[in-house]
Amino acid sequence: MAIQLKRSYKFAYRTAAFIAISLMVLLGFFMWYKNVLDWFFLAVFALFSFGISFFIVQLRIEKFIYRRIKRIYDDVTLLESSSLSSRTITTDMGTLTQEIEKFAQDKKVEIDTLKIREEYRKDFLGNVSHELKTPLFTVQGYLETLLDGALEDKNVRKKYLIRANKAVDRLIYIVNDLDLITKLEASELNVNWEVFDIIELIKTNFELLEMKASKKQIALTFDMEYKKPIYVRADAEKIRQVITNLLVNSIKYGNENGTTEISVENLIQNKVIIRVTDNGEGIPEQHIPRLFERFYRVDQSRNRKEGGSGLGLAIVKHIIEAHEERIYVESVEGVGSEFSFTLEKNADPKEVIV
Ligand SMILES: Nc1ncnc2c1ncn2[C@@H]1O[C@H](COP(=O)(O)OP(=O)(O)O)[C@@H](O)[C@H]1O
Ligand SMILES: [Mg+2]
Repeated sequence: MAIQLKRSYKFAYRTAAFIAISLMVLLGFFMWYKNVLDWFFLAVFALFSFGISFFIVQLRIEKFIYRRIKRIYDDVTLLESSSLSSRTITTDMGTLTQEIEKFAQDKKVEIDTLKIREEYRKDFLGNVSHELKTPLFTVQGYLETLLDGALEDKNVRKKYLIRANKAVDRLIYIVNDLDLITKLEASELNVNWEVFDIIELIKTNFELLEMKASKKQIALTFDMEYKKPIYVRADAEKIRQVITNLLVNSIKYGNENGTTEISVENLIQNKVIIRVTDNGEGIPEQHIPRLFERFYRVDQSRNRKEGGSGLGLAIVKHIIEAHEERIYVESVEGVGSEFSFTLEKNADPKEVIV
């Protein structure tokens, strides 16, 4: 890569001046001592010695320093061609030092980022295999017991098969969540903007989860009767996923005979806030900041029986952030939790058409 070098004469200029002055003083002293002091001669001598020194110094610098600097630039540019090549480069040492320092700094930041990413990748893989192992071993356990003779036992074989099947369900559940979160993180899933009635969407969600909720006698309700539709602009399918995840959590971590309530309120001019409130077990304060991390679960042992991948809230956060909206959580242990998120409100589409 050809680099333009802007020559700098400052160094040669100063060095030559120093040499000329020193020689002039020396010669002046000598002439004065010999009583032949001639100011004119001294001035001409100084001028010549300045000229000659300047010439020699500059030539030497060109030969021994500038070329090397240029090579350093060429090498650095090879590595970082995008950021360096566009600038004119000076042979001034100060600028070179600055450039190299900046280059080193940039590289350090880059290496740090890569290290963090690598760490995260290792973590992620570790977590995935850990999460998959438990249900896989469960399936294996039941199958082995069946093969070892339990198959003949009419009383237990169906029970074991049902349990193995449950573990397979859990595997599928985890893999689906993983699939979704990987896509979300690779930003493959773009927000498919559309206008829809959020109330209708919540109602459908309630219906789909009614069975699950009734097993724990948990009531899924609105905070009031919403007679009119509330239109929002978002990706309906993804928001459905958000509400499902929040509702499933409120059921999983809710108390028997509890209630999960959803409210949709106007926030500022063009925003609504959707709150999902339960009176379940709540979340201890120290866990709240990490709740949205992948695989993070408050109480590993207690939650195990509930199944789940610890990915639900991470998915929720991704989706809300892809919409450039915010998600909040408030929770008191033993009292309940409230998860809320904002969405962009849209005027009634029928009104827009008129
Ligand atoms: N409504 C809630 N009430 C109490 N704890 C909750 C609630 N929602 C989430 N949590 C806690 O946050 C953790 C993370 O939730 P999530 O990401 O959905 O993972 P999962 O449900 O698979 O465990 C849960 O394990 C649970 O401890
Ligand atoms: Mg969950």
